[in-house]
Amino acid sequence: MSLFSICRRGALLLILLQVMFATYLHAFTNGKLWMDNSGKHINAHGGNVIKYNGKYYWYGENRPYVGFTTTVGVSVYSSDDLKTWTNEGVALSISNEEGSDIEAGCIMERPKVIYNKKTNKFVMLFHLELKGRGYEAARVAFAESDTPTGPFRFIRSTRINAGIWPFDMKKADRKAAMATDAGKWKDWWTPEWRKETEKGMYLWRDFEGGQMSRDMTVYVDEKGKAYHITSSQENLTLLVSELTDDYLDFTGKYNMIAPGGQNEAPTIMRHDGKYWLICSGCTGWAPNEARMFVSDKIWGPWKQVKSPFKGANATYKDFPASKTFGGQGTYILSVPETDDKGKTVTKYIFMADIWNPEHLSESLHIWLPINFDSEATPEIMWTDKVL
Ligand code: GAL
Repeated sequence: MSLFSICRRGALLLILLQVMFATYLHAFTNGKLWMDNSGKHINAHGGNVIKYNGKYYWYGENRPYVGFTTTVGVSVYSSDDLKTWTNEGVALSISNEEGSDIEAGCIMERPKVIYNKKTNKFVMLFHLELKGRGYEAARVAFAESDTPTGPFRFIRSTRINAGIWPFDMKKADRKAAMATDAGKWKDWWTPEWRKETEKGMYLWRDFEGGQMSRDMTVYVDEKGKAYHITSSQENLTLLVSELTDDYLDFTGKYNMIAPGGQNEAPTIMRHDGKYWLICSGCTGWAPNEARMFVSDKIWGPWKQVKSPFKGANATYKDFPASKTFGGQGTYILSVPETDDKGKTVTKYIFMADIWNPEHLSESLHIWLPINFDSEATPEIMWTDKVL
């Protein structure tokens, strides 16, 4: 065999190997790195996916390999089939301006983008912590763009519902909250402290300056009304707040879900007339048992039911269903599909992150299908591939 034909065969083999490798990389296997079209792990954590003009857009935290604070901003990727993702760059960038709410060193978390049909704008809400202040600022931030890939313009960051009581809080309960004094409790987690928190101690502490807002999601109903759901009151209580028609502010109507329940990472879907809210507990980056709530209305009353995670066949480090298979939820993606009979059925995908605190950029993604059991209650089991 001539040297030329050996080289040619070698080159062909190399191309074949490259194609096989690329196919392997793009195969979305839960518990493995998920590569974009350039072979890099998708750096979009704690985010969401929307569909616009037939294309999917995936937004998420762009996290550094080493370190913790935001050095880039919010990433965006696009896809036609939810499997092959093109890196579209930075949707919202940190600012170089000193003193800006989003200057390098801030922490941007859990970005969610929604499309506003009335204004024809893409609106991003995210959890923002200010530079050098750990997690104490606890703000929500707004940004807006004319196109799905951005660049988004930062608008402002704020605490929420300052000076306003939850709309359904009774007069006597408001009075009880006003009698609490958060400053006096040095020791947390005692039964006495718990009692005070249940009376609304942190709601009252933050009443004037505005309520805390950390882990969050947004939900847009069939009429285009949007709601912000967030972990507030030192992560003890979730708040649901209505957004204005342009999605750039709060109307002031809000109430509480599961006061004192310590729920984080809220995700929500509506199926067959019922709202289902799936959250995590509060253990930082470490996985814990998911919690689920059901209600006929977004304003409740919400009833806590069993965690939807079931089955034992997890393959990621053997994290069981009782530890959400190692993940923490970030969003429920609804994908309408046509079945064999031509009927449209919605497939729900529970999107979660398996956090890697040593290398946050390499935190893994898991997407699991949400099915419904014989009582029409959501259940989520491990599967290697959802798509
Ligand atoms: C988790 C939260 C994440 C991040 C992390 C920081 O509980 O869900 O979004 O804030 O804590 O420790």
